[in-house]
Formats: sequence, C-alpha cells, structure tokens
Amino acid sequence: MIKLENVSFAYAAAGPTVENLSFHVEKGEFVALLGANGAGKTTTVKLIDGLIKPTKGRVLVNGEDTAKTRVSRRARQVGFLFQNPDRQICKNTVREEIAFGLRAARGDLGEDGIKNRVEETLAAFHFTGEEEPFSLSRGQRQRVALASVLAVEPQILILDEPTTGLDYSECCHIMDTISRMNRDGQVTVVMVCHDMEVVLDYAQRALVMAGGRLLGDGPVGKIFRDRELMERASVLPPQITGLAMRLGEGFENADTAEELAAVVMRRREGRRKQA
Ligand SMILES: Nc1ncnc2c1ncn2[C@@H]1O[C@H](COP(=O)(O)OP(=O)(O)OP(=O)(O)O)[C@@H](O)[C@H]1O
Ligand SMILES: [Mg+2]
Repeated sequence: MIKLENVSFAYAAAGPTVENLSFHVEKGEFVALLGANGAGKTTTVKLIDGLIKPTKGRVLVNGEDTAKTRVSRRARQVGFLFQNPDRQICKNTVREEIAFGLRAARGDLGEDGIKNRVEETLAAFHFTGEEEPFSLSRGQRQRVALASVLAVEPQILILDEPTTGLDYSECCHIMDTISRMNRDGQVTVVMVCHDMEVVLDYAQRALVMAGGRLLGDGPVGKIFRDRELMERASVLPPQITGLAMRLGEGFENADTAEELAAVVMRRREGRRKQA
C-alpha cells in the first residue's frame, strides 16, 4: 500500500534530512515511527503524504508515484492529522469545518452526499455541529480535526504526534476511535509518537529512525526489547517493558502490569506447591 524505495530528501544543500529509506506498509497495518527529535519522522510522513517529494528514490502509494499524483487524488488516499489541531481548523462551526474538508476532497459525493456524510460524521463523533471549534478544549479540537480527516474516508491515516497536549482520557478517546477503524479494516495507520505507552498499546509494528536513516523495523514488543537499537535511536522503552527486562528470566514477554503480576502469582503458586 505504501512503498518507499531508496528515498532521500534534503531541505537544503547542507545535506539530506532523510537518506536511503526503504520500507513497505501493507494494507490494514498500524505502524509507529519512532526516533529522537530531528530523526526525520515528520519529514518521512510528509513524503508519504506527498507534501514533499523525494530528491532521490520513489514513494509509491497504491502503486502510484507521489511525485506524479495530483493533489486532489492524494487527498482521498491519505489523511493527515497534525500534532496541533489549530493548523487544520479554519471554519467557525464544527459542521462547516467537516463540510469544508469534504468539499475539497470528495466532490465525487455531490452536495447531497456531502451533507449526509457531514451529519453521519457529527453523530459518530458526538458533535451537534453548532460548536465553535475555538471555544472547545484542545482535546475536543483534536477530535474535530480527526473527524474532518476521517469524514473523507482516506485509505491511509497519518498521525504526527496525535496525543501531544491531550490528557489521558482525551488521548484514549482519540486513539480508541482510530484503533477501532483500523481493526475494522477501514484504514491503514502510520503514527509518529513520542509516547511509548501509546505505541505499545496501539501499534503492531515499529520503524525506528535516527539521523534520517532507518535503524530498525519489527513487531513493537521485539523492537522495545532490542536494547542496542533503542540506545542507538535514543528512545526509552515503556516503563513496563523496561521493568520486565530488568526482572529478567520469565518476565521477558510481559507487556502489561497484569502480565507481570501473573508471572509473580504463578511463581508464588509453584513455591507453595513445593513447600
Ligand atoms: N522546513 C525545513 N527546512 C529546513 N530544515 C528542516 C525543515 N524541517 C525540518 N528540518 C530539519 O530536518 C531534520 C529532521 O526534521 P523532522 O521534523 O523530520 O524530525 P522529527 O523526527 O519529526 O523530529 P521531532 O521529533 O522533533 O518532531 C531536523 O534537523 C530539522 O531541523
Ligand atoms: Mg516531527
């Protein structure tokens, strides 16, 4: 579905910001992109979205080269949720905001189709439509931005630090919505995220970047347990995973407090039987 072939990109003559990146993302995956500040994560997702074009190599979305795809067509394929919802919101009511995005990307629906889609989206996100985005909380505004991105029904959803600035319940709300749509097979997700707990809870696969290059690619649990890789990328694993690794034998595969507790309980039970 997404294919990067030896992609390099340079903002300036100073040198490439991302270099020789190659990876595939298949339909239905939920992939996290990890790395320290300046590793090239945002640049990489902008390349997937076609906001910027590779200086070398090719980015293919559904087999189409992003350097040759028209902007209008891309908007149907790829939805982009930015870290700051205020970069995305420009209308005075939630209803107008959702309709605006749909008109730009889904002219094919016709005006009646757009009206219906707006109302369906408002209902799904529990908005009346009359709310004024700028009087809503940060978490609510992020939900407005997400609603207008998802109304278009993109095949691919790109999230660049979607939970920054949100409290725990706002974060769960946004991520659960995305996760449900991903599990239902409606959308393939590529997420940049600094919160490793969120990555562990929601992503299946992690790509690890440092200095514009891809250092690692694999299942999230396995990536977090690769100490050398995590150190090279300056990424700390989630606390539970770190603790499980320190506890060592028998605990290595625990990813939640419940799983850690289960190992302790099994051992206690074993000792009691021996005694
Ligand atoms: N528009 C730009 N012009 C010039 N250099 C840029 C531009 N955008 C980013 N860079 C540089 O490219 C490098 C990679 O930036 P990028 O935003 O892709 O990193 P990132 O991994 O998303 O970092 P963060 O976690 O801080 O968001 C950085 O050194 C950054 O300063
Ligand atoms: Mg970034």
